[in-house]
Amino acid sequence: MQHELSSLRETVVSEVESVSNLTDLEAIRVATLGKKGRLTLLMKSLSNLSDDERRSAGTILNKIKNEIIALIDVRKTQFELEVINLKLAEESIDVTLPSRIRSKGFIHPISQVIEEMITIFGEMNFEIASGPEIEEDFYNFTALNIPPEHPARQMHDTFYLTKREGSEQKLLRTHTSPVQIRTMIGGCPPFRIIAPGRTYRHDYDMTHTPMFHQIEGLVIDDGTHFGHLKGCLADFVRLFFEVDDLNVRFRPSYFPFTEPSAEMDIGCSRKSGQLRLGGDEDWMEILGCGMVHPRVLQASGVDSHRFQGFAFGVGVERAAMLKYGIPDLRSFFDSDIRWLKHYGFGSLDIPSFLSGVTR
Ligand code: PHE
Repeated sequence: MQHELSSLRETVVSEVESVSNLTDLEAIRVATLGKKGRLTLLMKSLSNLSDDERRSAGTILNKIKNEIIALIDVRKTQFELEVINLKLAEESIDVTLPSRIRSKGFIHPISQVIEEMITIFGEMNFEIASGPEIEEDFYNFTALNIPPEHPARQMHDTFYLTKREGSEQKLLRTHTSPVQIRTMIGGCPPFRIIAPGRTYRHDYDMTHTPMFHQIEGLVIDDGTHFGHLKGCLADFVRLFFEVDDLNVRFRPSYFPFTEPSAEMDIGCSRKSGQLRLGGDEDWMEILGCGMVHPRVLQASGVDSHRFQGFAFGVGVERAAMLKYGIPDLRSFFDSDIRWLKHYGFGSLDIPSFLSGVTR
């Protein structure tokens, strides 16, 4: 018995020492201490011995059993530690690795151009005003000297909203000019404001989309004349396009709310589908303007004998097309991510004038 015990002890000790993982260690434990384990069977065979022999063999057996249990425990802890260390090593973060470049998206050329224009007019001491996109007839037409039945109403291809009983028929503003009226009614002169925003017309082709953007401008005080209008707009386009000798043309035009009226064209060229700024081969109209009609001042409660001034409405998409060589207006609203990657701006693409205007 003694011999058997010490040889079992040696076998188990060497097995436990050479085992390489937790599963095998558990198998050794079961094969030794389990119900039918080697040591358990020896325990059971003690009953065949005489009292004396059983007592001394029992003592040794218990000692060996405890020894083996302790040994297996130590080995188990070792394996568990190894597993934890391995996991830690795998999950460690190398803080010296360069970071992944994440695309932050792009700024749409329309947003960029509006931002640029606001900055320039801000430098020219204009304040920002705004008005609703769902407008009333009075602000969009009547107060702008476009009474009902006026032929100019047809030119505007207006979207009308369904009329609600007991309330006035609303419409989607066809231009930003109603902000002129709202500004004048809500304050007292002098005024020097711009109003950027969305406008809507029932129209769709190469150069028209049903929604587009304008920046309205209004300057009213007691000494403003047409020379100021020309100077202000010429300054503006030179700063915006960042070209000092830009080809600019004022062409007589007609708007019911200004008199005299003009449109401003910028020299450009169009060759094989490409649009380029400069030259005088072709012209692109980018804004309408004129001296505010006395009737508009009167409709807005401004003394037309004392005050006068000018107004303008810049087409944001057209200005963006010219400045950034974007030939098709409709592409602005196609939501094509490849287009945006090509024509869009990063948040740090700041034109030179944004970091200090030099005039
Ligand atoms: N509202 C005009 C348009 O949409 C532009 C304009 C604004 C003209 C202000 C003159 C003065 O075409």
